Amino acid sequence: MSKEREFDNFDDHAKDYRNTHDKSVEMSGADSDYFSEYKIIELLKFENPKQTLRILDFGCGDGNSSVYIRKYFPNATIFGVDVSEASIKLASEKGITNTIFNAYNGATLPFDAEEFDFIFTSMVFHHIEHKLHDGVLKEIRRVLKTGGRFYNFEHNPNNPFTRKVVRECEFDEDAVLLKPSYNREVTNKSGLKTDKLNYTLFFPRHEIFKIFLGLEKLLTWCPIGAQYYIRAIK
Ligand SMILES: C[S@@+](CC[C@H](N)C(=O)[O-])C[C@H]1O[C@@H](n2cnc3c(N)ncnc32)[C@H](O)[C@@H]1O
Repeated sequence: MSKEREFDNFDDHAKDYRNTHDKSVEMSGADSDYFSEYKIIELLKFENPKQTLRILDFGCGDGNSSVYIRKYFPNATIFGVDVSEASIKLASEKGITNTIFNAYNGATLPFDAEEFDFIFTSMVFHHIEHKLHDGVLKEIRRVLKTGGRFYNFEHNPNNPFTRKVVRECEFDEDAVLLKPSYNREVTNKSGLKTDKLNYTLFFPRHEIFKIFLGLEKLLTWCPIGAQYYIRAIK
């Protein structure tokens, strides 16, 4: 791990990010699009897709989650930010309607206070030094409306399959996974209030496991899912 690490540098990975990601999750039986889409479908448990929401995709990378935010929240205005300029360029080139992508310095989000109804982030915090989490979360809190929601999807370090995928994935070389208990604690410390910690992705996505997938909604309490998310309210 590099000593100077604050945010992992994705400029070098941006162009090959999708291919690398697809390869690293191949043995799960699904591709990276599947994993982008399932998280946005998960948001529909809490959010009304018909509303005209202002949504931020924090650490949007090449914009793959924003594609699905657009699909499931057709009336929303979407913003994406990332510290990687190369990733933001790729996201902008996707031509997603009513969506604005911006690079920023990782310290101050380029938005006024209370701008967003909800903020979504996926697989970003394990690329940020843990000592910086509090400051980043306070920025997220600042730009959320009062009553606004924050959804933070992360890898679950308790799951051996997840640890293997992360260990073998080249863009996760410097990743430091967040224990769910730590994530909840640091989120609450920032002034946001965690109201859900749900575990997801318990079974592989190969056809043969299809009949089990319906069970996953009953297992959100079980701390061995491959990923988890925190929902917190301002
Ligand atoms: C594994 S990628 C995930 C990209 C996207 N969220 C997705 O799920 O496809 C992690 C992303 O986090 C970004 N990142 C790292 N530190 C960040 C920070 N402080 N603020 C915003 N984005 C950051 C990286 O540049 C990279 O694009």
